[in-house]
Amino acid sequence: MRTRHLAVLPAALAASLLLAACGGSDDASGDAGDGGVQLVSDGSLTVCTNPPYEPFEYEEDGEIVGLDIAIVGEVAKDLGVDVVTKVTPFEGIQSGADLNTGNCDVVASGITITEERQAKIDFSDPYFDANQGLLVPEGSDLDSVAALEGKKIGVQQATTGETWAQDNGLEIVQFEDLGLQVQALKTGQIDAAVNDIAVLGSFVSEGFEVSAEFSTGEQYGLGVKQGNTALLDAINGTLDRIREDGTYDALYTEFIGTAPASSSTGAATASAEPSPSDG
Ligand code: ARG
Repeated sequence: MRTRHLAVLPAALAASLLLAACGGSDDASGDAGDGGVQLVSDGSLTVCTNPPYEPFEYEEDGEIVGLDIAIVGEVAKDLGVDVVTKVTPFEGIQSGADLNTGNCDVVASGITITEERQAKIDFSDPYFDANQGLLVPEGSDLDSVAALEGKKIGVQQATTGETWAQDNGLEIVQFEDLGLQVQALKTGQIDAAVNDIAVLGSFVSEGFEVSAEFSTGEQYGLGVKQGNTALLDAINGTLDRIREDGTYDALYTEFIGTAPASSSTGAATASAEPSPSDG
């Protein structure tokens, strides 16, 4: 395939050649963006995301910011367009519905690449490694799967954390987003909350602690509508560029607070084979 050969060129050059080569993109419904990538809204890369999910997507001064948004910002920069963020429920993000209805061009929402989702969404190369974690009120002795038996565990609907809790036979209570999940922990409606461990840290100063990590070996990807190879190739080109020019490390450090381990870039990983649910 022609696009494969371009991958060995410097990313920016490859991207511009690729965009030039894809002038007649096939499946898109909207206006042409830069160089033939079709976008749902002219001149903008529209991203669906589900905050609050700090440090990946959260509100600051009336804007949605975070690592996911910053990475999509780099893609937009390479395309020569602006980013528009749309806040939507995670269910429609991970199911492909937001992409299929033209609600957005790309979904960026700490989305774990899973086999089931790969049947509905085309994922970029992985850009972040994740595990599940357990958030409990400070001083709680719930710190293992065994200890959670008979307890009420809050999960975010349609997430890998929900699948993990189900697979472990736990009694779950569903919430539409992380904010509601943590609110329920605060009021005692649930005994513990399960979600990606990287988003739990911001609640530690609020009377909670992260009492366990469950190694699920997940990896995040950006998602596009199935068959939108022009945009997917552009995204992967940008991911290559930001890994090479130091932007990824700088953004990771800015939002995560530590420098990335080399495996966190996903650079050495050809494909994601996550095991969040094993079923
Ligand atoms: N990584 C988990 C999943 O893919 C949770 C993602 C939730 N993201 C969010 N922005 N609320 O299922």
